[in-house]
Parts: sequence; C-alpha cells; structure tokens
Amino acid sequence: MVCLGNICRSPLAEGILNSKVKKLGLPWQIDSAGTNNNYHVGEAPHALSQKVARLHSVDISQQCARAFVAEDFDRFDKIYAMSGDILVDMKKIAKKKFNPEKTNLLLNEIYPGQNLDVPDPWYGEEPDYHDVYEMIDKACDKIIEKYGDLKPA
Ligand code: 4NP
Repeated sequence: MVCLGNICRSPLAEGILNSKVKKLGLPWQIDSAGTNNNYHVGEAPHALSQKVARLHSVDISQQCARAFVAEDFDRFDKIYAMSGDILVDMKKIAKKKFNPEKTNLLLNEIYPGQNLDVPDPWYGEEPDYHDVYEMIDKACDKIIEKYGDLKPA
C-alpha cells in the first residue's frame, strides 16, 4: 500500500487489510510505504489516521513510515497506489523493476478502470479521514474477495 508520506492513507490501508487478513487467517504479508523519502520517514501514522482506525478497532499505532523502494517489486505480489500521482512516482523510483502487472490504483478494486484517487486528507480535517477509511475499507473487502481463495504458490 503506497502513498506520499506513508502517514495518512497507506498506514490505514495496511492496518485495515492486515486486520481482515488476520481475522481470516490468510497467509499474507501486508506493508506500506511512501514515495517521498524525506518528509516523514520513521514517524508513526498521523494522529487522525490512528484515531479513525482505533474507532474501528484497528490499531495502527506501531507502524513506522518508510520509503518505497524499487526492491518492493521483488518482495510483494501486489502493490496498490493510493492515487495516480503516486503511481507515477512508483515508476520513477522502481525504474526497470516496475511491473505494471503487480500494480493498480486501490480504488480500481471497487470502481474498475475508473482510475479514481483516494483523496489525500493531509490538508483536511477529521471527516476527511473518516471518508478515506470507508473507501479503503471497501477496497480491502474487494481484495479479499478477489484473492482470498488463492492458494499460496
Ligand atoms: P499521505 O499524506 O501521503 O496519505 O501520507 C501526506 C502526508 C504528508 C504530506 C503530504 C501528504 N506532506 O506534505 O508532508
């Protein structure tokens, strides 16, 4: 799960998907990262992302922001960008390792082919974080529906 700062959107996506995966006992490893490697690396998620997650019994307080790296394409089967600008950043960072078959915009899982962005709540207020939570939650349900029955390779 990739966004810009790895403190607002993608930590929610990591926490939400991870909590669903754990409940179902799926053997998936979920992680998140940011394409900007100097804003917030090493920080915990934004206080409002933490709050909104906690209201849904999802604890993201132990997450720590890290930079997205080209090698993430070696480590992960599927990499979701929160928005189109992030997908562009991912291509620039990953260079030859960029694999379009592994990537998608997260909201394309709910609205296929529409290339919609998860809006960045960074300059917003608490209701924006709730909206973002709901979108990501629905998209994560779709991911589970789509891949949850696949046997590990
Ligand atoms: P995120 O949000 O990409 O969802 O983590 C942002 C976090 C920080 C900044 C921008 C967006 N920033 O400009 O520091």
